[in-house]
Amino acid sequence: PRGIVTDTFARPMRDLRVSITDRCNFRCIYCMPRAVFDKDYPFLPHDALLTFEEIERLARTFVAHGVEKIRLTGGEPLLRKNIEWLIERLARLSTPDGRPLDVTLTTNGSLLARKARALKDAGLTRVTVSLDALDDALFKRMNDADFAAASVLEGIAAAQAVGLEPLKVNMVVKRGTNDGEIVPMARHFKGSGVVLRFIEYMDVGTSNGWNMAEVLPSADVVARIAEVFPLVPLERHTPAETAQRWAYADGGGEIGVISSVTRAFCGTCTRARLSTEGKLYLCLFASAGHDLRALLRNGASDADIATAIARIWQGREDRYSLLRGSQTASASVAAAPRVEMSYIGG
Ligand code: GTP
Ligand code: 5AD
Ligand code: SF4
Ligand code: SF4
Repeated sequence: PRGIVTDTFARPMRDLRVSITDRCNFRCIYCMPRAVFDKDYPFLPHDALLTFEEIERLARTFVAHGVEKIRLTGGEPLLRKNIEWLIERLARLSTPDGRPLDVTLTTNGSLLARKARALKDAGLTRVTVSLDALDDALFKRMNDADFAAASVLEGIAAAQAVGLEPLKVNMVVKRGTNDGEIVPMARHFKGSGVVLRFIEYMDVGTSNGWNMAEVLPSADVVARIAEVFPLVPLERHTPAETAQRWAYADGGGEIGVISSVTRAFCGTCTRARLSTEGKLYLCLFASAGHDLRALLRNGASDADIATAIARIWQGREDRYSLLRGSQTASASVAAAPRVEMSYIGG
């Protein structure tokens, strides 16, 4: 089968998020807490990782099935050697009707100042940078690896300077930890061309000790900013966009809020995830993936792979966030095993 495939809720497959390493030089408290991800943590051995050739081969099939955006994630994707090579290959792909792909990545920004030019030259369209605080002591407490906010800001400036735009900054908000940074972050990026997005702290993985009391609902984030800088709502660019958008009333640009806890967006979820070792996951909260690496390494033909991916997507029923929020299903849904964010990619 070629052409657009849809799942059991008629959701097409539009975005492919590829985790290219499970390693990271940060130890963010909500993602890779140091107590779990310590020197004994069993990170994947090199031969378990999909090679760039394997990723490119799979990407072609995903694109034939309707994918229009590929996002490289991790771990920290810029830690993978020669990532420019992969970006070059992916940037050459086009949709069945001849449009270029959106090839982007999510990074912690620590290596961006050094790599921005090469990434742009390789064909990357834009980047999303994670930054949880401007206050250095607080930022260091959150990344738990002694990285200064200034080094991330340098990376952001370098990316903007080479034209990796629109540049987005993601801030995970933990109530009682960094919610005091909401307004300072808004003030800092207002008028800079950066789209700052606030993410509700999610119960992803099992190692971060997630607790609803530490979630600050996006409605509160918007209210806190609007008190200082009046906001007007904007339409989503596409129905599948994760963020709800708001513009500064004075023309200072826009912000977004990603409310996967208080306002699930599963109904329009078009995202497929490929793990570092080549498993296809149909949801950020899935407890298992489908092993595509085994197909690749056991001599499957392109047609076999295309058929397998189409069948897997056609059987997709995942709606974790939606069910998690429903009174009847939430307890059993929340108790199911699930993978870590650093393995599957944000
Ligand atoms: P754009 O293409 O720029 O709109 O980016 P995006 O929102 O697709 O990707 P990004 O990596 O910036 O996603 C931001 C954050 O939203 C992620 O880090 C996750 O925390 C969250 N997120 C993204 N996709 C999903 C999803 O499918 N489900 C849930 N629950 N959260 C998601
Ligand atoms: N909740 C919300 N966002 C998270 N991220 C990582 N873990 C979580 C979590 N538990 C975000 C990062 C980054 C992206 C890769 O995912 O901050 O923006
Ligand atoms: Fe690394 Fe990103 Fe996870 Fe932080 S959130 S530990 S930067 S992968
Ligand atoms: Fe998609 Fe799963 Fe996230 Fe819902 S919880 S939006 S189905 S990835």
